[in-house]
Amino acid sequence: LARGVTEPDLAGKHVVISAGGTREPLDPVRYLGNRSSGKQGYALARTAVARGARVTLIEANTGFADPAGADVVHVGTAVQLREAVLKAAADADAVVMAAAVADFRPESYATGKIKKKDGQEPAPVALVRNPDILAEISAERAGPGQVVVGFAAETDDVLANGREKLRRKGCDLLVVNEVGERKTFGSEENEAVVLAADGGETPVPYGPKEALADTVWDLVVPRLG
Ligand code: CTP
Ligand code: CA
Repeated sequence: LARGVTEPDLAGKHVVISAGGTREPLDPVRYLGNRSSGKQGYALARTAVARGARVTLIEANTGFADPAGADVVHVGTAVQLREAVLKAAADADAVVMAAAVADFRPESYATGKIKKKDGQEPAPVALVRNPDILAEISAERAGPGQVVVGFAAETDDVLANGREKLRRKGCDLLVVNEVGERKTFGSEENEAVVLAADGGETPVPYGPKEALADTVWDLVVPRLG
């Protein structure tokens, strides 16, 4: 697509995007969280609106204003995110999981603030696994042509880890970022490789998160049922 020219190639399509990072509460004042800013998910929402889609954005803890033209659902925890994604995915043509979902949550929630006591070591925090939303929606597609996209931040052998994760999750596309230094967290820009289940590999050079978002839609469109 030429710069500034947007084809409505998602017109009539419903796309669901998760953005941000879940927070898993320990007590009324504390949580386990992560450093996902939500910027990539919001870029996906803006570009999808520009390309004519009906957009449901499921947002976890970003603090950003709702993007114009999108239906926004606000959630806090992974369990809430799962519920909102499954509900919206029921009639979605594509689901893009850009949110950072906490792998674990505290086993129990203290309804009162956890207090320290003189001379006492802190109690360990027991964790339990959160549901894997991407694996679940990939396994149980709402429709035959529904396209499912995941994101992964990797270190070390980034591509090998990405390929393995794509297989394990069962999604159609996996956007793989290398984490480190200036890369990814909170920045306006991103560099990635988009891996496809059919073997495709699309490198996306370092640039605005909007450009990566448009590349994701370019790869989603031909796969839509
Ligand atoms: N994801 C998800 N539910 C989870 C964990 C992750 O839906 N409980 C999604 C994320 O939104 C992302 C993709 O899965 O699109 C990959 O997340 P990642 O954390 O890289 O995958 P994990 O399977 O948790 O692998 P790791 O052990 O490397 O964290
Ligand atoms: Ca994880």
